[in-house]
Amino acid sequence: MVQVKRVGRLGLLVALLAFPARFATETAPDQGVPSKDGLVACTSAPACDAGAAILANGGNAVDAAVATAFALAVTHPSAGNIGGGGFMVVRSAGGAVTTFDYREKAPGKATRTMFMRDGKVVPAMTNEGYLAPGVPGTVRGLALAHKRFGRLPWKDVVMPAVQLAEDGFVLSAALARSLNAQLFPNEREDGTAAGGVMARYPASKTAYGKPGGEKWAAGDRLVLQDLGRTLRAIATGGPDVFYKGWIADRIAEDMAANGGIITKKDLAAYRAKERAPVTGTFRGYDIAGMPPPSSGGVALIEMLNILEAYDLKSKGAASADARHLEIEAMRRAYLDRARFLGDPDFVKVPLPALLSKPHARELASTIRADKASSSLELGKDIVTAPPAQEPDETTHFSVIDRDGMAVSNTYTLEGGYGSRVVVKGAGFLLNNEMGDFNKNPGVTLADGTIGTPANLIDPGKRMLSSMTPVIVSKHGKVVLITGSPGGRTIINTVFQVVLNVTEFGMNVREAVDAPRMHHQWLPDTVTFERNRLPEELKQKLQALGHTVREGAALQGDANSILIDAEGTAWGAADSRSADGKASPAGARLTSTAPGK
Ligand code: DON
Repeated sequence: MVQVKRVGRLGLLVALLAFPARFATETAPDQGVPSKDGLVACTSAPACDAGAAILANGGNAVDAAVATAFALAVTHPSAGNIGGGGFMVVRSAGGAVTTFDYREKAPGKATRTMFMRDGKVVPAMTNEGYLAPGVPGTVRGLALAHKRFGRLPWKDVVMPAVQLAEDGFVLSAALARSLNAQLFPNEREDGTAAGGVMARYPASKTAYGKPGGEKWAAGDRLVLQDLGRTLRAIATGGPDVFYKGWIADRIAEDMAANGGIITKKDLAAYRAKERAPVTGTFRGYDIAGMPPPSSGGVALIEMLNILEAYDLKSKGAASADARHLEIEAMRRAYLDRARFLGDPDFVKVPLPALLSKPHARELASTIRADKASSSLELGKDIVTAPPAQEPDETTHFSVIDRDGMAVSNTYTLEGGYGSRVVVKGAGFLLNNEMGDFNKNPGVTLADGTIGTPANLIDPGKRMLSSMTPVIVSKHGKVVLITGSPGGRTIINTVFQVVLNVTEFGMNVREAVDAPRMHHQWLPDTVTFERNRLPEELKQKLQALGHTVREGAALQGDANSILIDAEGTAWGAADSRSADGKASPAGARLTSTAPGK
């Protein structure tokens, strides 16, 4: 049973002392936002409020999720999207779990070596521009989930986003900064400039530039006319207008005019898929997550299975002994990820074996309590190293309604603002998800190139993902809804939030705010959030043989909901992102200042 603890004055003092300045000033050391009538936790306040208003108007969790997703496409343009893709896990009030796969697909003209020139992968070609996007899946995916489960009319759940785009919404300081970084190159001390990538694409500059060409400032209102028209067409005409109607025409024209390869045929052929979840158990909790083409659910369940043999709770969440075992579990699950996972419609993935307890026991038998394993030694048969770290943009939201129906949704454009390409005349950004494929067939090198077969580019294939929307339940009741952005770190972020609740008994605020770490098999390094790694822990892990380093300041953005034994939902927007909110049902649609 999950214990939701109140944090007393002593707890507050300890929390403030333990947190870096950013957390001490921005984090209320509470236990989350309570509601018995349903809740949305997401990364952008107006979008969370849009979902919460739908809950209050008689919508269920899927209605609210669809409304939140469309609204995020307006208010969180770096990752919220209609030009990308993602995954949704739905648990109905009766307890049945299903998933929706709306991952992008490679276009029909894609080839295995399309990102190579002179024998080398050219990263710029997947970072931005017209070859980077996969065929978008979001609109079909949201429509499929709504068709299966929605209670309110489709139009009603899309219209809040239309309103936000057409009337505009007030920019937070964080979003103003983020847009400026896309629109204006920043001079560096050495005289070179970085940033300003979106400004290279005229339609993107028109859509997101401030009229008059100034920099955006907090408090400015951003109106997205073309996006509003597109969303209005989707609201009234349904998903076909995006895949077969005038929006498809705009995408195909823009592609043809700029060397892209997505055609009307690709768009018309796109299907989202309902798939059975991957499931596992951990200490009596039931875990349900995304199957391939996401690697998230499989890797998460493998890690939990491995750790079931150990008593981490008595060691303590922050102890070196617990951290050591968690790192060893990460190392092994990520090796299996590299070895086996890809689009199940194209490659055979040995799912039952990977998810089994005997497989976990076999993996655990190679873990030593007193010594770090070697990643290269464990994976020497496929000698490889991972590609460069994925950029840190994607977004996760969690929803529960008053009947207990739950939605866990992670979706993305891949990098922040995706390909940076706004479709001319349609006002929305396209993803750069093609970069998630292995781009150098057959070449697997220690320098970070992976060319293993499961995730090579083929027309119509979905690229492997790490997105890990998950729903944890116990004795037939939902306990936790969570997920995160963060590229390959996603799986580990979710793993730690799940452990913090199920193993260490934390409340949702503590579980989300606790420091995070990441190990992805190769490079054989464990990375902690900057300034959140106590020296003693570092030394103990080094003494065990781990290579330890501090990485980015923040890992993930796990907007989560925990349901306590009394049935109260507690929502927590991750303190790592400035604009998140947990909105209880009843919040009205807002287009004003964001806030926690
Ligand atoms: O599907 C994936 O795993 C990646 N495209 C997700 C990218 C991501 O999370 C970037 N940042 N947060």
